[in-house]
Amino acid sequence: MVERDPALPERVTIYEVGPRDGLQNESTVVPTKVKAEFVRRLVAAGLPVVETTSFVHPRWVPQLADAADLLADLGELAVPTPVLVPNEKGLERALAAGVKHVAVFASATETFAEKNLASTYDDQFAMFEPVVEKATRLGLDVRAYVSMCFGDPWEGPVQVARVVAAGRRLLDMGASQLSIGDTIGVATPGHVRSLVDAFSGAGVDVDRLAMHFHDTYGQALANAYAALESGITTFDASAGGLGGCPYAESATGNLATEDLVWMLDGLGIEHGVRLDDLVRTSTWMAEQLGRESPSAVVRALG
Ligand code: HMG
Ligand code: MG
Repeated sequence: MVERDPALPERVTIYEVGPRDGLQNESTVVPTKVKAEFVRRLVAAGLPVVETTSFVHPRWVPQLADAADLLADLGELAVPTPVLVPNEKGLERALAAGVKHVAVFASATETFAEKNLASTYDDQFAMFEPVVEKATRLGLDVRAYVSMCFGDPWEGPVQVARVVAAGRRLLDMGASQLSIGDTIGVATPGHVRSLVDAFSGAGVDVDRLAMHFHDTYGQALANAYAALESGITTFDASAGGLGGCPYAESATGNLATEDLVWMLDGLGIEHGVRLDDLVRTSTWMAEQLGRESPSAVVRALG
């Protein structure tokens, strides 16, 4: 029996991004039926929320061009299944598919706004504003990502004040939660602490923040631990460590859900996910993709 450190949260929410952030970056396009089985198996493994796909321009992310077909195949599931929408056109498509949870995705830097959204830093907010307004008016939940929160491959280190300013604009629009993205995996634990402190200093409660780590430099778990110490209770993770961003140089896989679950179990922190089912799912998905899972825990247990 593990005794939880009382300074750490009792329970966390794991926000699964594998079907979206994972599969958007695979060179092979996964058949819709396989994606649907992936999502169903993740839900069955106890993940409380599974981000399924994106209503972005299909030319930009052809891997997720089947978004509407996937949602039709999935039907109603027992847990929220959010989708990414960048603009009004994306929201229209998502609404036609019956979604109830959407996420917009901003960049903390000028260059990535251009590379990922064909926008300037300021114009991206003008693009999101009517999306957030309409979605919230219709009763949808809106999450907002901020990318390049720790470093940017073109601009280098990113100041915490810049990230907080971007986050504030999205919360002020009406987003319910901010996901703080380390898109290229350069964050370190001290930087994570400073960023959470800066948000707290700006009056943003830690409950409104989620952490989205990529593991490029092998720091994702250490960063998650630092975030737990700072009171963060929502963590994005990708089953099997799939993932990356096709428009960010050097973005590799997300923090693997299995690696996070293993650490949380060791800390006595509740999360509701069944590790053995999850490992079986990621091992199966790795077979579908024809490559080994990058997750250390999947390789150890699979
Ligand atoms: P654009 O080319 O400037 O679009 O792209 P536009 O508004 O000029 O429109 C051009 C055409 O695209 C029009 O069609 C529109 O209707 C159509 P036409 O009149 O020429 O026939 N169009 C669309 N079609 C379908 N769905 C749409 C849509 N929007 C316009 N939603 C745009 C601008 C934002 C669309 C483009 O840049 C885009 O799709 N970007 C998405 C890139 C992306 O998905 N990146 C990965 C996700 S972000 C990420 O992974 C980071 C994250 O994980 C966190 C982290 O790690 O940091 C979230
Ligand atoms: Mg990501």
